[in-house]
Amino acid sequence: MKKLISLLQDRMEKAFQECGYDNEYGKVINSNRPDLCEFQCDGALAAAKRYKKPPFIIAEEVVEKCKDYKEFEKIEMIKPGFININVSKDLLTNYCNRIMNEEKFGCQMYKNKTVVIDYGGPNIAKPLHVGHLRPAIIGESIKRIHKFFDNNVIGDVHLGDWGLQMGLVIEELKFRHPDWDYFNENFDGEYCKEALFTVTDLEEIYPCANSKTKVSENATEEEKEKANEFKENARTNTAYLQEKKRGYYDLWKKIVEISVKDLKENYKKLNVFFDLWLGESDSQKYVKSMVEKMKDLGILYESNGAMVVDVQEPNDTTQINPCMVLKTGGVSCYQTTDLATIMQRQIDFNPDEIIYVVDKRQELHFIQVFRCARKAEIIDKDAKLIFLGFGTMNGKDGKPFKTRNGGVMRLENLIDEVNRKVYEKMRDSKEYSEEEKVKISKIVGLSALKYADLSNQISKDYIFDIDKFTSFEGKTGPYILYTLVRIKSILNKFYENNTIKENKILNPVEDIERQILLKISKYNQILEESYIENAPSKICTYLYELANIFNSYYQKVKILKEDSERLESNISLLSLLKRIFENGIELLGFEAPEKM
Ligand code: ARG
Repeated sequence: MKKLISLLQDRMEKAFQECGYDNEYGKVINSNRPDLCEFQCDGALAAAKRYKKPPFIIAEEVVEKCKDYKEFEKIEMIKPGFININVSKDLLTNYCNRIMNEEKFGCQMYKNKTVVIDYGGPNIAKPLHVGHLRPAIIGESIKRIHKFFDNNVIGDVHLGDWGLQMGLVIEELKFRHPDWDYFNENFDGEYCKEALFTVTDLEEIYPCANSKTKVSENATEEEKEKANEFKENARTNTAYLQEKKRGYYDLWKKIVEISVKDLKENYKKLNVFFDLWLGESDSQKYVKSMVEKMKDLGILYESNGAMVVDVQEPNDTTQINPCMVLKTGGVSCYQTTDLATIMQRQIDFNPDEIIYVVDKRQELHFIQVFRCARKAEIIDKDAKLIFLGFGTMNGKDGKPFKTRNGGVMRLENLIDEVNRKVYEKMRDSKEYSEEEKVKISKIVGLSALKYADLSNQISKDYIFDIDKFTSFEGKTGPYILYTLVRIKSILNKFYENNTIKENKILNPVEDIERQILLKISKYNQILEESYIENAPSKICTYLYELANIFNSYYQKVKILKEDSERLESNISLLSLLKRIFENGIELLGFEAPEKM
């Protein structure tokens, strides 16, 4: 279905042509003076140069032509040559009625693409912390938007399960439990089925192991040596792991199993779901053939013991260092796993696009990896590799968000804090049972967190402001939900004792009705833009503006008191609004409570 603005543009182009001008000047855009008009065309200003005529003359001729067209309710020339446009009531109303009958609100569906979305990216053996919030929230929304447009979308969590951190955890476990079968070279039986440790243990073990590799400036030689030895052992463990050495590999599998179970529960609380639970480790089986391929192409060479590929390009203004494909001793590093994963995805899915939702501070890493992947021809040359780098969530001091005592805040705790804030607002309400209040505050709390995050441009940093995010007024998730719940409750009240014959919206009478219809008519355009630009923030802004218009409509129009024809039209309008809000929040990744 064509966008409303394109329908107007078609007409405008025709008018330019009929007046003897090129139709390219008929471009229609949203008005940048909504107080004066709904749409505008600035083509006469551009045409003036080519046709050597004053722009207002051209505009006047075109406006005169357009008076015959039923698409425009008001069309006028404003000096020096702007054309201000209001759409006709009939067209606007018909358009909204058509949208009502379209499952996808009249969005244009694009060619079915296969898109892999790499998001989440948690590291095994560490609890989810606030740094994991953004990739989960943004990735989930991008995934839902791409699915809405009928793409074959694969969301992959891409666990960090193959690096030195695993070797460190193993080293610490070995230190604490040297007697475990996993570390006994001579053991050839079956390893213990039950887990010998819990996630909580792991969460304590990783930082402990990590601190053992660090020494203070004034450490003694002995302390330095100890730290070095610990790190060296961790490196050896990592190498063992990558060779799948018996015992070490089995212990690692247990660590992964326990961590993943916990991660799944935590992501579920965020309403975040992955299609694939693969990790860096799953790409290991492609490393050998990938390295062979690079050798055959003659792009791989040795540098200080490591194997690297040059990725500098002639137009670069800064130096881009070679991409490290293997570390000394043939050990896999972060670049290795990302490269081999590209190869794996190419073989498994032949994707049109791979989108990486990763901290923008990793941009250089991805520049190197993408260039190297292209040079090594491990990805189809038409496939797009997209780095969607996100900014940091900061505290009020402008620095990355921390707990009150300066530590990294666990994601669970942050979620609890937001939920508690929402709960406080409802604590004294007599309307809900205790159980309901807890349930509602979880749903509303999640909307606060997600909306606040997604309403910012992805690449921008933003400040975590719990009071602002959880407010029921202003550009917040709770405000959107509050509006949707209001719409639902009006509909419920109506449908308790009534039905309607036909879903049909009548021409607007009040100006506020016109404003709602105009906003509704643009939903498909907003969805397409947010899809093409990977910009959920566009949906956030749209829903906020729609909510504002609806709430003034609610103040001005007696929705349930009109005569029967208008009443049916009002109900149809509200049903459509409900669908739009529900679809919008679904794409953002949260839901609405029944009441709040
Ligand atoms: N695990 C990584 C980290 O914590 C993020 C992974 C991002 N995705 C990727 N394909 N590299 O930094």
